[in-house]
Amino acid sequence: MEIRDAGADHIEGITAIYNDAVTRTTAIWNESTVDHANRAAWLSDRQKAGYPVLVAAGEAGEVLGYASFGDWRAFDGYHHTVEHSVYVRSDQQGKGIGRALMQVLIGRAQSIGKHVMVAGIEANNAGSIKLHEKLGFEHVGHLKEVGMKFGAWLDLAFMQLKLDARPSPDAVQTR
Ligand SMILES: CC(C)(COP(=O)(O)OP(=O)(O)OC[C@H]1O[C@@H](n2cnc3c(N)ncnc32)[C@H](O)[C@@H]1OP(=O)(O)O)[C@@H](O)C(=O)NCCC(=O)NCCS
Repeated sequence: MEIRDAGADHIEGITAIYNDAVTRTTAIWNESTVDHANRAAWLSDRQKAGYPVLVAAGEAGEVLGYASFGDWRAFDGYHHTVEHSVYVRSDQQGKGIGRALMQVLIGRAQSIGKHVMVAGIEANNAGSIKLHEKLGFEHVGHLKEVGMKFGAWLDLAFMQLKLDARPSPDAVQTR
């Protein structure tokens, strides 16, 4: 398994993992699946913004998982904060792929000067919460019944990781 930047060859695999999460889980709060063109546009938008889309690729180049981040909110004041997502193919979970993707993704965020990474996680998603705790994310909030899927209200847990120790946004990074 190798972590690399996503390209056109990976869109099919990314689309399949995304749609599986839509149809079977509460990890993505959408009920509609997407097509190849939708994920191709998403990949292109992320790359134009200078943000990474990483894939965990198997021996034959197949997509075992993917991770990415984008702006947390659109206003200028949030410039140093990103929100990420990470998905591992259902038959590949529990093998260290999520952790490996996240470790590289965190390094990428640090390398472009981001200060905070935010995870918004369905509050009952024990696996994702464990993964983030193990990576050093701290619990910072819990919004009750802000979402819905499969006929039930969903709570959203927020976790965050500080990516550097800059005392102010203008300070030179020391790490
Ligand atoms: C959550 C997810 C990304 C984790 O990826 P993964 O490859 O399965 O996790 P890893 O094998 O890398 O595990 C990383 C750590 O988290 C822990 N962990 C992962 N899943 C766990 C689970 N279900 N229960 C308890 N601990 C878990 C592992 O013990 C591991 O700790 P260790 O490295 O100290 O042994 C993956 O299960 C997934 O894609 N789930 C469905 C989609 C999803 O929920 N995405 C996140 C949306 S916020």
